[in-house]
Amino acid sequence: MKFKEFFFTKLFSLRNLFFLSNFIVLGLFLFLITKDYFREWKPYQKEYNRLDLQRVEKLIAQGGPETKEALQDELKRIKSRPLEIKQVIAADFARVDRCITCHSAYDSFMNPSLTSEFKDFPYAAPKNEVHEKHPPEKYGCTVCHEGQGLATSFVDAGHMPKSAEQGKEWKEKHQWEIVEYFEHPMNAGPMVYSSCSKCHQAHPNVPGMELIKNGKKLVFENGCVGCHQINGEGGTIAPDLALETAVKPLARIDFGPAVTQGLITKNERILENWIRLHFATSPAVITPGDPHGEMSSDRNNPQPVPPSPMPYFGFNKEETEALVAYVMSLKADTIPHKYHVSAPLEPEPQFANNIAHGRFIFQKYGCVSCHGKNADKGIPVYNKQGGHVPDLVKTLGTFTREELIKKIQTGVNPEEKEDPAGPAPAIYMPSFKDRIKGKDMDDLVSYLQSIAERIDTW
Ligand code: HEC
Ligand code: HEC
Ligand code: HEC
Ligand code: HEC
Ligand code: HEC
Repeated sequence: MKFKEFFFTKLFSLRNLFFLSNFIVLGLFLFLITKDYFREWKPYQKEYNRLDLQRVEKLIAQGGPETKEALQDELKRIKSRPLEIKQVIAADFARVDRCITCHSAYDSFMNPSLTSEFKDFPYAAPKNEVHEKHPPEKYGCTVCHEGQGLATSFVDAGHMPKSAEQGKEWKEKHQWEIVEYFEHPMNAGPMVYSSCSKCHQAHPNVPGMELIKNGKKLVFENGCVGCHQINGEGGTIAPDLALETAVKPLARIDFGPAVTQGLITKNERILENWIRLHFATSPAVITPGDPHGEMSSDRNNPQPVPPSPMPYFGFNKEETEALVAYVMSLKADTIPHKYHVSAPLEPEPQFANNIAHGRFIFQKYGCVSCHGKNADKGIPVYNKQGGHVPDLVKTLGTFTREELIKKIQTGVNPEEKEDPAGPAPAIYMPSFKDRIKGKDMDDLVSYLQSIAERIDTW
């Protein structure tokens, strides 16, 4: 018999193929059953049910016959509780959250008081005012915690560790790793408070929100709006912290220099850490630019790019966390208006005189960010002639009032380069013509003149 004939009539005859395919189908079927049986969430629900049963049986054993009578129904319910994927449809926020598939005791049907004596994470819902005030069957989980609501595995849900140690522990316990380019990782630990301002406006006195309030205060005091905008208000030198930064897609962030320098690991490449790096180290370290144009595509016409001009502020850990939470909290979300909780208006600040008011204006418009809190310490600027923003206390003595107003209104742009082949300086004196007017401008100038060193002696 020829090989070809043997092949088609004996070995792979229709009959044999039919046999074989039966085995394949059976195999797949068994595989799916086992896969379903070993779903990652099942052991959590089983364990929860076991503990719940134990709890009720203990109550029955301790109590009298009436207790037994009263708890019969509950006992029956626990025993017949199916293992199933559970979800909350938070229709108002366009979210479907399956987190309670594992976090069983977070469901107020399962656990009406939303507290639990079970010590075993993740079933225990800690007595937490915030969970009580926002019933999960209406709010779900991801509106505050973020993460991927539909996921039913630990990794896909987007859990984020609070620390590198916890990350290591999770790697062993849950094979945790970051989901590459996943846009909605969970807010790690206290970063959950960055979600509150989606509904709670102007940061009222709700627990945990001190963090956000402190961040807001730091942004004001350090004049970040001298360079950055926040929702369209502020300087145009740097990205809008609300409209750009807080919603920045991971694919648009260059983590390269930070990873190469060992500042973060590959498992830490999330937006939260990108923001944090801007305070933990000098921003020029993580955004070094290309000051000599070495990476330009056109060798003959190099286009040098200056390093990040953002100064290193030297914030401590607490201040850093507050700033990160605040910047994260600027993220817009489309939450229906009925969920917005407005805060009482903050009292207008009062000032002893127009010079004190002028100093406030100097802070409010972010002049402090480039000129220093007392206008006497200009920040360094790469490749700018002189290398620094001027010290206003030293230079303003020669200006008349009118000259000063004109300078602030028109700004200075572009800056002179120190090295003509280098990049244009990234920092320049912005124009404030449309922003500072009337009494604000008058008082600002009075303040500047009050601190300027006079050179009357010539
Ligand atoms: C597959 C089961 C599973 C799913 C689904 C799940 N979780 Fe978890 N979650 C866990 C386990 C297990 C832990 C405890 C991890 C540990 O510390 O070992 C945990 C821990 C947490 C923590 C505490 C983290 C910390 O810093 O200690 C939060 C917050 C959390 N989950 C929120 C959520 C949210 C929100 C969702 C839905 C998007 C979700 N989880 C979906 C199993 C799950
Ligand atoms: C209204 C906002 C909000 C909603 C909705 C919400 N949480 Fe929380 N959750 C919080 C806050 C705030 C904390 C306390 C965080 C802290 O202070 O460390 C917290 C803590 C937790 C913790 C413990 C974290 C830890 O580090 O120990 C877990 C687990 C958790 N939530 C899971 C859930 C699950 C599951 C849901 C949905 C059923 C949910 N949360 C819904 C705000 C919320
Ligand atoms: C999706 C919108 C939404 C989010 C997100 C949200 N809340 Fe609320 N919260 C509300 C609403 C609406 C109320 C008012 C409920 C009421 O009046 O009964 C409320 C009530 C509260 C209360 C009770 C206040 C009172 O006067 O009784 C506290 C405390 C609170 N929220 C804290 C927080 C914290 C902390 C966060 C962030 C972790 C948060 N909320 C996130 C909508 C939200
Ligand atoms: C002198 C100008 C200047 C000041 C002052 C300044 N920044 Fe920046 N900042 C920049 C520039 C320019 C960038 C973009 C280049 C980069 O990524 O470093 C930037 C980047 C950032 C980023 C990353 C933005 C993104 O979308 O990738 C954050 C977050 C940030 N700044 C926060 C702040 C905060 C908060 C303050 C105040 C404490 C501040 N900055 C003060 C100029 C400034
Ligand atoms: C983004 C950084 C930045 C911000 C914000 C900024 N300046 Fe300037 N400012 C500069 C630079 C750079 C110069 C130097 C321009 C030059 O080389 O002539 C300058 C120059 C000046 C001068 C002229 C000083 C001199 O010696 O010629 C005055 C006055 C001044 N700034 C006032 C202000 C005031 C008031 C504000 C806030 C309303 C402000 N600046 C905000 C960067 C800044």
